[in-house]
Parts: sequence; C-alpha cells; structure tokens
Amino acid sequence: MEQHHLTENKLKLYFAASFFALIFFSTSVNCQNNLQKDTTASPVQITRNKIDTEIENILSQLTLEQKVALCHAQSKFSTKGVEQLGIPEIWMSDGPHGVRAEIKWNSWDYVGWTDDSVTAFPALTCLAATFNPELAGEYGFSVGEEARYRKKDILLGPGVNIYRTPMNGRNFEYMGEDPFLASKLVVPFIKGIQKNGVAACVKHFALNNQEKWRNHINVELSERALREIYLPAFKAAVVEGHAWSIMGAYNKIRGNYSCQNDYLLNKILKGDWNFDGVVVSDWGAVHSTNAAAAGLDIEMGTKNYYDNYYLANPFLAAIKKGEIDEKVLDEKVKRILRLMLRTTMSPHRTLGRKNNPEHHNVARKVATDGIVLLKNRDNFFPIKDDKNLTIAVIGENATKPMTVGGGSSELKAQFEISPLQGLKERYKNATILYSMGYSSGKGAWDRALPPKLNQDSLSTEAVNLAGKADMVLFIGGLNKNHFQDSEGGDRIQYGLPFGQAELLNRLSKVNKNIGLVLISGNAVEMPWIDKVKGIMQTWYLGSMAGAAIADVVSGDVNPSGKLPFSFPVKLEDNAAISFGSSSYPGDSINVYYKEDILVGYRWFDTKKIKPLFAFGHGLSYTTFEVSNAKTDKRNYSRNDQIKITCDVKNKENIEGAEVIQVYIGKQDSKVNRPIKELKGFKKVKFENAEEKQVTITVDVAQLAYFDETISNWHLEEGKYTVFIGTASDKIIKKIDINIK
Ligand code: BGC
Repeated sequence: MEQHHLTENKLKLYFAASFFALIFFSTSVNCQNNLQKDTTASPVQITRNKIDTEIENILSQLTLEQKVALCHAQSKFSTKGVEQLGIPEIWMSDGPHGVRAEIKWNSWDYVGWTDDSVTAFPALTCLAATFNPELAGEYGFSVGEEARYRKKDILLGPGVNIYRTPMNGRNFEYMGEDPFLASKLVVPFIKGIQKNGVAACVKHFALNNQEKWRNHINVELSERALREIYLPAFKAAVVEGHAWSIMGAYNKIRGNYSCQNDYLLNKILKGDWNFDGVVVSDWGAVHSTNAAAAGLDIEMGTKNYYDNYYLANPFLAAIKKGEIDEKVLDEKVKRILRLMLRTTMSPHRTLGRKNNPEHHNVARKVATDGIVLLKNRDNFFPIKDDKNLTIAVIGENATKPMTVGGGSSELKAQFEISPLQGLKERYKNATILYSMGYSSGKGAWDRALPPKLNQDSLSTEAVNLAGKADMVLFIGGLNKNHFQDSEGGDRIQYGLPFGQAELLNRLSKVNKNIGLVLISGNAVEMPWIDKVKGIMQTWYLGSMAGAAIADVVSGDVNPSGKLPFSFPVKLEDNAAISFGSSSYPGDSINVYYKEDILVGYRWFDTKKIKPLFAFGHGLSYTTFEVSNAKTDKRNYSRNDQIKITCDVKNKENIEGAEVIQVYIGKQDSKVNRPIKELKGFKKVKFENAEEKQVTITVDVAQLAYFDETISNWHLEEGKYTVFIGTASDKIIKKIDINIK
C-alpha cells in the first residue's frame, strides 16, 4: 500500500515534469521565434494556471518538515530534495565567469576532482565593454551549457551591482556604472543561461557596492538613486530576463539586512516586479528567522549546523508555535518547486558541454570585442610582426594566471593562455624578450620571486632589457590578490601597485616607445600617462586571454570595446569619494550615498570635471565618420518612440566596429537631473570601407524620473536634448525635442 502510494506520487511528479518540459520548450521556441505575434495571451495564462495547479498538487503531498527542509542548505552548495517523492536536490555553483571547481560538502576546500576544469570566460566588465547584447546571449548560453555538463541547477551569476567607486574589489564581476548598459546586457545573458534549463541567480540584490565592511555596512540613499541607478539592471533581469533566482546581498539597506529586507524583497521584487523565482541568500548573509517573513526563500552558507539555520529548525518551531503563518512557508516552497520544474525536474534540458572549441571561441570573441584601446599616440598599436623588430615584454601580468584568485569567481580553467604565450604564438618574425619587472609578492595566490631577485633587481633587469629593444610592451595593472580586484576587500590605492608607476618612469628613460596592456577590472591612476604611447584596457579575459590580446595587439582584430565606466584623473574626482569618508567607505556602520543619482559620467558631465577616460570611450585602428544624425520628429507624446538615425562611414578598408551612443537629458527640469543619460546604443560592424545607416529607438517612457513625492515614475513635459555620439565625451550632434 505504502509502496503503491509512493509510486503514484512519483508518477504524478513525472507527469508534472513532462508537462512542464513541454511548456519549457514551447516558451523557448517562442522566444527564439520572436516573429510570432503576441496572440498567445490566453494560452500562456492557461499554462501558468496549469503549472500552478501542478505545484499545488506537489505541495499538498509534503509534510511541514519536508517543506522547511527545502528552504535551507544541506551542504555548502546544495539543498535537500524529498527522496520519497522523487523531488531532487538543487545544486548550485559560482559563477559568474565559468563554473567553479567542485567544493567539499562541508567546507570551502576543493574536492580535487580531475574532471571539473572548465572554460574560463572573460569577466563581466569585459562583456559590458563589448556593448554587444548578442554576444552576451552567446556567453550566457555557453556558460549555461558548462553548468549543465557539471550538473548544476543554479549558476550564481551574473552580477549587476553598479560601479560606484574604482575602489570596490568586486567591480570586475559587474557590468559597469550605467544602469541602461547593464540592463541591456544582463537580459540576453540570463536568457542564454536559462535556455539550458539552468537558473541564473542575479546578484547581489542590492547595493553591494563595496567589499569593505560588506557584512554589516548599512547603505543610506535616496529613493531616486535606488530606483534610477541601483535597481534598473535587477529589474530588467527579472521583468525582461525572467531570471529564475536572485541572490540577496550581505549589506544592510536603510537599517535592514538585504536578505531580510521586506521593502526590497516583498514590496519591490515580489510585488512591483512580479518576481516568480527564488530568493537565495548570499553565503552567511542571514541573521535571523525574520528573513522568512521578509521574503527570503533559501538560506545558504550560515555558520551553523544545517538544521540550525534560521530557516531550518527555528523556522519550523516558529510555524508550529503559530508565530509565522504556514502560508509564508508554502509561498517559498511553491517558488522552489517552480524553480525545480524549470531546471532539475525538466527532463528535456540540454545535456551540456564543456571545454569545447565553440565555448573557447565565444570566450575569445567576447574578449576581443571587449578590449578597449584607450590611447594610441603615433599609432603605437597595432604592432606589426616584423623580423627587424625586438619587443621587450615587461610585467608580471604577462604570465600571471588571472582565473585563479579574486574570491568566489575563481575558476579551475582547463587552460589559460597567458599574454606572453599568446604573443609568442602570434609573433613568428619579431623577437620577443621577457622580463618580469616587478612582483606582487608572496601569498596565497601570489607567486614567489624568482631566486636571487628582489624588486630592485627585477626592475634593473627590465630596464636593461628595455634599453636593448625597439619597443616596450608593458603588461601590468592589478591582479586577483586580496586588496586588488578581489572579493572580501576593497583596493587600498588608486595608483598602480607593486612599484609599477616607478618602473614605468624608469623604463621611459631608456625607451620612448612604450605601450601598456592594462589588465584590471577597475580604473587606475595614470600620472605617467604621457610617458606611454598606447594603452589598451584588457580586463580579465579567461582561458583565451593571451590569444585575444595578441589578436588585438597585432591588428588581426580591430579593437571596438568601449569603457563601461569612467576613469577619474585622481580618486577625489570620483563622485562618491569627493564627499569624503562618510560617503565612501562610510564609518563602518553607515555609508551615505551623497552623490545621489550622479554616479559615473553623470557626475563628470554635470559637474564639468574632465575624466581621464570617459564612459563609452574606445578607439579603433580605423576612423569612423558619423553624419546626418537626426530624430524622426521634434514633438513626441508619452507612448511614442523616438527614432534616431545617422550614417556611419568606415573610412579605411579594414574591418572594424563602432558603437553609436544616444544620450538624452533635460536641462530645465524641476528636479536635479544629470546633463545626459544613456538611453540607446548600437554596435555597428563594418567589413571594409563602407557606409551604413544606423537606427536606434528610445521609448519616450524611458525619460521619466522617479518622483519621490508620488513614489512613482514621472514623465516631465517640455524640452529634452538628444545627444548622439561615439562616447559620452564625443558627442557629434545635439538635437532638441519636445515631449507633450
Ligand atoms: C559571494 C557570492 C558567492 C557565494 C558563494 C559569497 O561570498 O558574495 O557572490 O556566490 O559566496 O560562493
């Protein structure tokens, strides 16, 4: 009898799963086949109702204990299922640049498997720099396939916390300073992952903009800054990307921890945005059973025995005592079951692949598309492969692995092509010599200094080499050590670390022909900028790093990346930092976002401070001419779209791409507004010298600001200015329009 009952339950589950698979596939086919008109409103509704009915069926078979067990970890990266009912466990993995090596059940140590190496994809700052939503989709799909191969149900990424200061140790994992850019890239990225039947987990919701004191710092900010700057990318991830899960942050917001923040989780996320997925806590970010009522669904990483997690026995006890309504639990379980039906209980998801040439190719494409040529005096780049040429490659980053370190995003890459290796493989005629030049020292992820060398002798050796070479290619920047681009701490200096600035000065005395390959996820100070001819911002590029760098340095690929954040000349030019320590990093208890909505280029533009390199900046080996920029009309009403067109001409007969950027601003607003904000962009590719017409559309509704007096978006009437250009500081045409 008992046996029969179980079989029957399993059968029900099976039907639920097959049924869901059908829906999963029909929706993904529909997504791919966008041409279909939206005549499906009622069938979709029916489908939703059916899923909900199935979820209710399963729910009704679960005991209170079984339900509570679904809401918290059973190991470092998994949650329990219900074995008797055939409900599987959920397995998660970091995220976001690849699938992290397998971690032990109860500790942070790696298991040491031999088959868990993966493709390391470029860091998300690089993806942001591509300004290429299509590539974001390919990246998402590929990393999702690797997650499937590794049997993961939730991939912990992408991250979309806004770049507020260059000091944040985790900026490299995010998509820059602009909410519109991050939104446009996060949506296809999520859809790509989830096409595999793997849930994306968008993080860290919200306002985790610094690592210093991240576990307790309380963020105070205006509602406008929250809605206009810090939430839009999360909102897009949920409303347009349909993310199946989201991760709460460590920090507090207006006095409450993010993972137990009723306003953020219940009101905004689940209420206003209709989020139907699962809220997963960051690891160890829950501090009380209040998190249950405040909207958290799954608790992970608490330093306690699993049964003693806040959402385990204490939650169960509170329900039994009637302190928490069982409905609160049921609502979580429904979300968790929905996620399972979308992932681990969907029998038709992809099987996954990893380390395959297609993924390496996607990694290389994203990498080359995202490299930004910042400066190119005397056409230092590209460097031709000439047998009479001797290149002195100098710098620790030429050989230092960058997929290791940095915190939870570190990867066990199947291979990582270093910049030096990539250059040596590409340059068959020129002579390439190498000297390390400086060392980041010794430590967990560091490398030891070569025997008998210290910083002085390293530097002297490099200077000697530079004196003998035709040119110096300095490959430096930051790395993934603590206090660099790494989780759990912020940077401690804005300038280049490990004596690199001094080394650059010394090198420039013996060789005037210096180019810099800057490997970092953050802006750095450049007091030595006049001493180098060319600068290429190359981020952390993953497995294919060296090959991609060689592609662009050699000119095989023409750079087309654009900066997703501004580079201040000096640190105090950054908005948050200009307001002093209460605004960053805070007093260890509170941090006040005093720059309000004026983050990044919004600040530089409005305050007329010249950045070292502006948001959206990036050079090419060819020149583009933009002409004939116009809007389709001058007068618009609230439901209109503004259609902006221009002609773009590639003036040289080489491949290349330009990003046309549309910013819009309102000068005579009744509230403070930035001079201009990004509202549209398009990356246009050219195969040779040709001219193309580019069209970008902007919904008028996008021009609304968040009006705190009515707690809603408000579209002001009147005059607006449309700025069309190829960088936030390279505006080619301004056009005034009117909104009625
Ligand atoms: C990080 C998350 C990560 C989690 C699991 C936390 O410390 O903040 O981003 O997903 O650990 O490794």
